[in-house]
Amino acid sequence: MFRTRMDTAAAFIRERTDIRPEIALVLGSGLGPLADQVEGIAIPYSEIPDFPVSTAPGHEGRLILGRLFGRDCVVMQGRVHLYEGYSPQDVAFPVAVMAALGAKTIVLTNAAGGMNPDYAVGDLVVIEDHLSLAVASGLDPLLGPNDPKLGPRFVSMNRAYDPDLVALAERIGGLRRGTYAHVAGPSFEPPALIRLLRSAGCDLVGMSTVPEVIMARHMGLRVLALSAVTNIAVASVADTHVTNEDEVWKAAKALQPKLLALMQALIPALPEVTE
Ligand code: HPA
Repeated sequence: MFRTRMDTAAAFIRERTDIRPEIALVLGSGLGPLADQVEGIAIPYSEIPDFPVSTAPGHEGRLILGRLFGRDCVVMQGRVHLYEGYSPQDVAFPVAVMAALGAKTIVLTNAAGGMNPDYAVGDLVVIEDHLSLAVASGLDPLLGPNDPKLGPRFVSMNRAYDPDLVALAERIGGLRRGTYAHVAGPSFEPPALIRLLRSAGCDLVGMSTVPEVIMARHMGLRVLALSAVTNIAVASVADTHVTNEDEVWKAAKALQPKLLALMQALIPALPEVTE
C-alpha cells in the first residue's frame, strides 16, 4: 500500500538524521550541483526502501538532508521520469516521502524547451499553470484507490502553483511566469505538437514535474516550480535544428550559477508554514 511504503521510507530516512525538513527541493536535469551547497547528509536513492532509482543522465540519484541558505531542506539530487518506465505513482512517491518527513513547501526545478517566442536559452521561468498530455491520457499519480489519510480524492489544479510564491519568484528573481506543457517523452515533440501546445497557450515543454506537483497538492504542500530554458522547441519542419540531449546538458550547466543565485535569494524568503 502506498502509505505504508511511504511511511517505511520516511522512517528509514529519519533514522539516518535529526534534520526535520520544512522545504523540499527537486533538482532537475543538469541542475543537481546546487545540492553541493547543502550542509548535511546524502543518502543514495538505492538505499531507501522502495525509492525509485534515477536512470536518466545528469540525475545523481541522492537524497540530501541539511541546511541550505539557512533553512532545513530535503533535496532530491535528480528525479525519476515516466519515460524511464516508472509508473506515475513511482514518479510521485519521493514527493510523498518528503511530505511525510514534514516538508510543507516544495520547490521543483526542471530543464525545458522554450516555446514562447520571447524566451531565450538560459532564461529561468516560474510556472503558473500546466497542461499535461500525459496526465490527461491516464497517467495521473492519483489513479486508483484513494487514501483519505494522505489527501482528498479529487484535487483542484487551479492555483496549484502557489500564487504568492509565483509572485515572490517574479519579485525576487525577476522571473517571467509561464505555462508548462508536460509530455511523457522520451521522444522529443514533433513540430506539429509544438504548434498545438503553443496555440493552447503553453510557453514551455518538458518531461517532468507535473506528477510531482499533483502529489504535492494532494498532500497539501505549497508548490513553487521553476523551468530552466535549455533549448528552443522546433515548431516547423522547415527549421533544420535537431533537438538533442547535448544542448540541454550544456545549457543546464551554464545556467547553474544563475539558479544558485536565485535560490540563494528565494529560499530564505520562502514563508514559514506553521499548521
Ligand atoms: N522537450 C521536452 N523536454 C525537454 C526539452 C524539450 O524541448 N528540453 C528539456 N527538456
